[in-house]
Amino acid sequence: MDDYIRHVFICTSTTCSEGDPFGLRLQMHQLLRKKLGADFEKKVKVTKTLCLGQCGLGPNMVVYPEGVWYKGVKPRDIPEIVEQHLLGGKPVERLILHKQGAPKCESPHGA
Ligand code: FES
Repeated sequence: MDDYIRHVFICTSTTCSEGDPFGLRLQMHQLLRKKLGADFEKKVKVTKTLCLGQCGLGPNMVVYPEGVWYKGVKPRDIPEIVEQHLLGGKPVERLILHKQGAPKCESPHGA
């Protein structure tokens, strides 16, 4: 890992994406670019991924180094996640699925 302050993995599988698999990632990129400049990815990396194993609760994402899992993330939640957690270091409690570590996968599609 480079010198990222945060690394976000966003599930872009169709089950989680509600018809727009890359929308949350794009929105997050746009906000980070606005806040940190064109080279924002040197500080915050946002990676698309396939199923994180919590399909029924999506859209899901996980933020490192804290290992905080978010569930049911909507476009309206992205500014709060960016400001409060990715830049401010304070997780958004109301969206947390698991505070640390990978949740137990109970989905037939899970990893
Ligand atoms: S499809 Fe997103 S967590 Fe499984």
